[in-house]
Amino acid sequence: MKTNRKSALQPIGVFDSGLGGLTIVREMRRILPAESIIYFGDLARLPYGTKSKEQIQTYSVQNTLFLIKHKVKAVVIACNSSASAAYQFIKNHFNLPVIDVIEPAVQNAVESTRSGRVGVIATRATVESGAYEKGLARKKSGIKVFQQACPLFVSLVEEGWLSGSVTRDIAKIYLKPLLTKKIDTLILGCTHYPMLRESIQAVVGNKIRLVDSISPTVHRLQQTLERKELIRPAASHKGDLRIFVSDRPGNFIRLGEKFLGEKLDRVELVRQK
Ligand code: DGL
Repeated sequence: MKTNRKSALQPIGVFDSGLGGLTIVREMRRILPAESIIYFGDLARLPYGTKSKEQIQTYSVQNTLFLIKHKVKAVVIACNSSASAAYQFIKNHFNLPVIDVIEPAVQNAVESTRSGRVGVIATRATVESGAYEKGLARKKSGIKVFQQACPLFVSLVEEGWLSGSVTRDIAKIYLKPLLTKKIDTLILGCTHYPMLRESIQAVVGNKIRLVDSISPTVHRLQQTLERKELIRPAASHKGDLRIFVSDRPGNFIRLGEKFLGEKLDRVELVRQK
């Protein structure tokens, strides 16, 4: 495989409003272990999903600039709310590969559905953007899409309440309307939600397949890096993981370590202006 040696050694930038993007980072560490990663979690401004498109776009551009300052070779927008508001803008205005999470999840859902009836759960911003509806319609004609915003799910994850009766009760209230729609596939359209997968599956039952963006996003990242000769040779080097947050990390370190299965020795605080 050909490699552009110098650029290939640069890290990959990943951002989300909080912990959610770590669902993508975990898979990156597994599939692309030699790659170094700079992660930015915008805790000061979380949640994104309740904010306007313009506001999310501004944050997303600032996050991208922050990552570029750290000399990243590619950016992964590990946040559906950001991807739905700002992917095109970032792709058009920055001269580096940009990977989003929506298109990969759409592809996953189209491959999964037999009935053509697909549910989407996401933040309010993502639901209102219509990004999933448009994406699914582009990929498969006649597909029926049923959406539900689940804003409290992000707080449950940031709080570490991944299971238990409160989480299940909230999930039941959000998911009940979708259960009457005869969907066979449910897209977890927010990178926080895979952390609630078991609670969500328990509520919807085993007949509905849950699909997320994690593995197709990392697969797409890998293909893009290979195509651009930016992949870091796997050899002996284990990639570094550097984590920045924009406010007091709070639960971030404990939950992040548990989730990633690795020690987060240093979580660095940066103030976004
Ligand atoms: N994890 C994010 C997403 O995929 C953001 C959630 C939020 O901050 O509301 O939408």
